[in-house]
Amino acid sequence: MEGQFQIFSGNSNLALANEICQNLNVPLGRALVGQFKNGETRVRIEENVRGSDVFLIQSICAPVNHHLMELLLMIDALRRASASRITAVMPYYGYAKQEKKTAGREPISAKLVSNLITTAGVNRVLTLDLHAAAIEGFFDIPVDHLRAAPILAERFKQMNPMNMVVVSPDTGGVNRANDFRERMGASLAIIAKQRPQPDVSEILEMVGEVKDKMAVIVDDMISTGGTLIEAADLLMERGAKEVYACATHAILAGNSAELIRNSVVKKVVVTNTIPVSAEQCNEKIEVLTVAPLLAEAIQRIHKDLSLSTLFV
Ligand code: R5P
Repeated sequence: MEGQFQIFSGNSNLALANEICQNLNVPLGRALVGQFKNGETRVRIEENVRGSDVFLIQSICAPVNHHLMELLLMIDALRRASASRITAVMPYYGYAKQEKKTAGREPISAKLVSNLITTAGVNRVLTLDLHAAAIEGFFDIPVDHLRAAPILAERFKQMNPMNMVVVSPDTGGVNRANDFRERMGASLAIIAKQRPQPDVSEILEMVGEVKDKMAVIVDDMISTGGTLIEAADLLMERGAKEVYACATHAILAGNSAELIRNSVVKKVVVTNTIPVSAEQCNEKIEVLTVAPLLAEAIQRIHKDLSLSTLFV
């Protein structure tokens, strides 16, 4: 696009938004994003955006509904202020786990959220490691879906791994784990799990050889930590030498960070798509930044350049 671009952010991940701006050498756009006394979200864009190519950064992380509402109201405000194009930059797309009905009389929440975002008035979406790739198709506007795998794999290469097996902790994550395996030149193991109830995972079986190997569990997100910790225990039982893990989105709900600290996992590498608080941080959790990746994507979208080099 011709002309300048502007970057705004809701309150979900200001540290990441500021880092993206530093990478792009532009200031973060001024906006009031707060609350009225009655609890409703209050938004005002405090600079002119008329005719501008605007990128709005917001992860739909906890408090999820609040951050979603901030995103929707900011899009509405930018559209009514005549921004020429609005790209919702969602490093973490929440409600993504509810992307299909698993029982009768349930919503498809990921689809509803995509409808809300589109109806609010965005023209494009830029996101990272959607829980299910099919969510891209829930939008009828362009979606650029980046992967954190190159960043995470690079970190594991620095550890000079020997005899590595990459583990998918569930069958839904096989493609993701296989992509990581190819980057690392490792072998693959797959765990089959079931969820007897929401947020509870139970392992059924595992295929693949892990004995005496460095096992790396690859997942898109860590929420309660149940999937990760159960998988790590199984890998140790089956003779793995040591267990590492990586995931793009560190939701780290409840006391999961503490559970990870007390688990057999040696190290968990995550990214900053969701802020990891000081209380959640411990010596086993390493946070890598996705700011340079998102900054490069923003610059390329603005200049109408291809994003394919960012997937290598
Ligand atoms: C499952 O389909 C996902 O890829 C993750 O494995 C899961 O969401 C992690 O959740 P939790 O940490 O609560 O087990």
